Amino acid sequence: MTNSPYIKQYLMTAGPTPVPPKVSQVMAEPILYHRAPAFVPVYARVLDRLKTVFDTSNDVLCFASSGSGAMESAMVNLVHPGDKIVVTSAGKFGERWKELADAYEADYTYVDVEWGTQIDPAEVDRALSDTPGAGVVFTTLSETSTGVIHDVAAIAEIAHKHGALIVVDAVSGLGAAELHQDAWGLDVVVSGSQKALMCPPGMGFASVSQAALDKAAERPAGRYYFDWNKTAKGQRKDPPSSPFTPPVSLFMGLDVALDMIVTEALPVVYDRHRLLGRATRAAVKAHGMEIFGLDDEAASVVTAVSVPEGVDGAAVPKLMRDKYGITIAGGQSQLKGKILRIAHCGYFGPFDIITTIAGLEMAINELGGSLELGAGVAAAQRVFADAGVTVGA
Ligand SMILES: Cc1ncc(COP(=O)(O)O)c(C=O)c1O
Repeated sequence: MTNSPYIKQYLMTAGPTPVPPKVSQVMAEPILYHRAPAFVPVYARVLDRLKTVFDTSNDVLCFASSGSGAMESAMVNLVHPGDKIVVTSAGKFGERWKELADAYEADYTYVDVEWGTQIDPAEVDRALSDTPGAGVVFTTLSETSTGVIHDVAAIAEIAHKHGALIVVDAVSGLGAAELHQDAWGLDVVVSGSQKALMCPPGMGFASVSQAALDKAAERPAGRYYFDWNKTAKGQRKDPPSSPFTPPVSLFMGLDVALDMIVTEALPVVYDRHRLLGRATRAAVKAHGMEIFGLDDEAASVVTAVSVPEGVDGAAVPKLMRDKYGITIAGGQSQLKGKILRIAHCGYFGPFDIITTIAGLEMAINELGGSLELGAGVAAAQRVFADAGVTVGA
């Protein structure tokens, strides 16, 4: 078994995530011409079902980019050099909004909160009061670097009170953490294909309200491919028509993945993710390991765990990957070597968690820890058993 090239691999990161076989299979079909009658219904169906996942009546604009491209589209459509905005950050991906604001020379007020904590809407309120004329607030639903889910509905209310639009990064949150774009008044939500949408990387989405499209249309300069109104115009045609060549194979895969999500039903999908998070937290706590930052039932995307005293944190993911074929993530930037991140966003079920915890226990012990083998596994099993989990055929 040593060095077997046939050992099964387990991808337990928050993106890219595992892709269901039927999604992979459809992407292997012959490439379709994007104006062909065979592709147009696929395109139309995907655009329609994306609205269901974002819970919106907006156009969900699709780009051939990673999630950061969709984030950049929000900056280039809504912000011009010198514009006043508010940027929130509670981790690595909040920082990306700041980097984009720097790149596009915005005049921003930075709400920089401690990693592992939640953004306090009152702080956003203060920042907006201190920044008269701020037109947009940029924030994050699921901060993948810490596992924390932010209360974007409360932040939206504050933004609107000050007459600002809100843009939410839901790159890892969409389809894993509760999100109701229209009911929560989120003007723009951006995401990507490679996380809870169960597809390979390569598609970015921006679900954009009419108010945000209108704001973008006021100043059309400074962008081309990412111009929201250009893509909205194409997607609104009957039948819809992409202004540029869309990634047809990814659309074919996404069509199947969205069908799986809609068939499972979003409330069930959210419950599944919360249950996976609960089991993961129970497993690590059974070993006396601490959840990093906020220990929250809403943490349904990724579980961040502090590395036990005396164990080399950076070595754990490496050993798990190289010896057991289980890929989890370590900490990023200031959290390098300090935390482990086990994802459960997308095509994940109970036995992915149980396998991962089993590998984690073995790896930590090999690196000097003294965990009771199986204690975390048993704790996760109990959570699943109590929830009456049925995976089915
Ligand atoms: C919350 C969040 N925002 C943005 C990104 C960046 O997305 P991408 O790597 O697809 O550009 C990620 C990727 O992990 C993310 O988790």
